[in-house]
Order: sequence, then structure tokens, then C-alpha cells
Amino acid sequence: MPTIQVLPHPDYCPGGAVITAQVGDSICESLLEHGIEIEHACEMARACTTCHVIVRQGYDSLDEPEEEEEDLLDRAWGLEPQSRLSCQAIVGRADLTVEIPRYSINHAREKR
Ligand code: FES
Repeated sequence: MPTIQVLPHPDYCPGGAVITAQVGDSICESLLEHGIEIEHACEMARACTTCHVIVRQGYDSLDEPEEEEEDLLDRAWGLEPQSRLSCQAIVGRADLTVEIPRYSINHAREKR
């Protein structure tokens, strides 16, 4: 099973963590399953940016982000070229290293 190394974040995992993930789960689901309570304000409906992560290693093993995801990411705090919405990034066979940005901007909206 692939592993996800989570870099230290003062609120979610101060010491960092290494978790195992299921192929086919999203990064967000994998983190939550292991008690890393990353925000997911829109309940993974691709309507916010609170689940933003930066994929420091393994980015190329993920599916390409769709346009809607990229549009949302444009509004994320601390955007980087390897940014993803973690609820949309599906774990493949490669190990990943992710960083949860220090802040998030809650863009959650009512579903239309
Ligand atoms: S939880 Fe809202 S886009 Fe991922």
C-alpha cells in the first residue's frame, strides 16, 4: 500500500505523520481516516478550498486536476505549482509527501 508522509502542521499533526493509504481513496479521505482532521468544508464536493494540500513528492503520480479544481485552487491561500484539492486527488501506487498549508480560506458555498 502506498504511504503518505504528512509534513508537520501545528494544528493537524505537529510532529508530522506517515500513514498508509488505499489506492483509489482521495488524499483527504486518507488523512481523515488516520485522524488528521484536515478541513473539508464542502464535504468533498469540490466547492471550497479548505482541503488544499501541496504535494511535495509524488505529484506526477496523481491524475491531472480538472479545470474546476484549478479554478478553485486559484483562490487558495498559499497556492503553489504542486497544489491540489486533497478531496479530488486520488492516491495511486506511488508514495506521496504532502504539506497542509498553514492557513485555509473558507470558500464553502451552498450547493446549487
Ligand atoms: S473539501 Fe471542499 S473542495 Fe475538497
